Amino acid sequence: MNLLPTPTDRFTFGLWTFGWTAQDQFGSPTRRPVDTVAAVHKLAELGAYGMTFHDNDLYPFEATDAERQHEIDRLKNALADTGLVIPMITTNLFSHPVFKDGGFTSNDRSVRRFAMRKVIRNIDLAAELGASTFVMWGGREGSEYDSAKDVRGALARYREAVNALSDYVIEKKYPIRFAIEPKPNEPRGDILLPTVGHALAFINTLDHPELVGLNPETGHEQMSGLNFVHGIGQALDAGKLFHIDLNGQRGVKFDQDLVFGHGDIQNAFSLVELLEFGGANGGRSYDGPRHFDYKPSRTEDSTGVWESVAANMRMYLLLKERAAAFRADPEVQAARAAAKVDEIQQPTLAVGESAATLLTDRSTYEEFDADSYFDGRGYGFVRLQQLAMEHLLGAR
Ligand code: GCO
Ligand code: MN
Ligand code: MN
Repeated sequence: MNLLPTPTDRFTFGLWTFGWTAQDQFGSPTRRPVDTVAAVHKLAELGAYGMTFHDNDLYPFEATDAERQHEIDRLKNALADTGLVIPMITTNLFSHPVFKDGGFTSNDRSVRRFAMRKVIRNIDLAAELGASTFVMWGGREGSEYDSAKDVRGALARYREAVNALSDYVIEKKYPIRFAIEPKPNEPRGDILLPTVGHALAFINTLDHPELVGLNPETGHEQMSGLNFVHGIGQALDAGKLFHIDLNGQRGVKFDQDLVFGHGDIQNAFSLVELLEFGGANGGRSYDGPRHFDYKPSRTEDSTGVWESVAANMRMYLLLKERAAAFRADPEVQAARAAAKVDEIQQPTLAVGESAATLLTDRSTYEEFDADSYFDGRGYGFVRLQQLAMEHLLGAR
C-alpha cells in the first residue's frame, strides 16, 4: 500500500485553504498568514502536484501594478524551483465591499463592468501561468431578499458575462475552459446556480457551452442534502466534470470545509471509487486535478495546518486503496453480478426495436411475471453495501 503522494496523483490545493488565518464571523485569526513561496515549497515536499489561487490570495485587492508583478514573479520562481504547476486560477469577486451585491449580477451596472475587467485581467494571468481551468464561484451572486433581486435579470447578466469572457478566450486563442462552482448559500442567503443540476441547465443556454463545465464541491452539494456521488455522476454524464473541489461536510449546515473524508466517509469512498475506477474498463472516469478546497480548523496551529494538508492526500489514497480492494474481491464481483450492477449498461430496447414494436412483444408485458418480484428476485444491494463497508473499514 503506497500512501505517499506523488505529483502523478495530481493533488492540488488552493492558496486560500492552508493560507486561511482562521478569522470567522465570531472570532479573530488564530494563525499568521502563510508566505506563498514557502507554501509552494512545502506543498512540493508533501508530494502535491499543484496549487491554485484567487488573484487576491496572491496579492491584495489594492496592490499597485508593481506589487502585483512582484508577487507573480516570486510565485513563478517558486514554481520553477519546485516543479509545481498552477492548473487552475479563479477571481475573488466576493471579499471587497464593492462586491456586496455580487460581481456579474450586481444590480449596479458599473460594478458589473468592473467585475468583468477584474476577471479579464485574471484570465490573462491564467494564460500566462499555463492554467487550463478558470473557476467561477459566484459566492456573492445571489440575494437575501426576493423583493430586491430580479432572478431572471440576474441570470441574463450572468449569461452575458460568461458569453463575453468565452468570446475573449476564443479571440485570444487561450487554451482555457471555465468551470462554474455551484453552492446553495453562504455568504448570500441564496446563491444563483445553487447545485450541479441548476448549473448544468444554465450552461446549456450559453453561446459556447463547450467551453463551460463544472467545479462541483463535496460540501456544497451536501449542504443541500444532495448526494455528491450522484452530482458527479450527472456531471460526468454531461461531459462537464472540468474540475472538482474535494472536502468534508457533516450534513445540512454551514460550509464546514473539513478534510476530505472527515465528513461523510461512505460517500467519499464511493466518490473515489467512481473517479478512480468508474471509467472505461475500470479506469479513471476523471483525469483532472484532485483539488482540495478545505479549511484547516480554527483550532490548529501551523503544524496542524500542514498535517491537515497531508491528511487530505492520505485520505484520498487510503480510500483509493480500499476501493481497489473492493473491486478486486471475488465475493464483491459475485455480489455485483447478483445485484445486476452492470446490467444498467445494457440498452433497454434491442437493436431495431422501438416503443411501437415493444407493443407486439408479449413477453414484455402480457406474459411477464411481475408477481414474481413479491418476496423474490431480491437484488442483494444491502449485502453488496455491507461488503463495501467491510472493505472501507479494513475488515476484508
Ligand atoms: C467557498 C468556495 C470557494 C471557492 C473558491 C474558488 O465555499 O468559499 O468553495 O472556496 O471554491 O472561491 O472559486
Ligand atoms: Mn466551499
Ligand atoms: Mn470550492
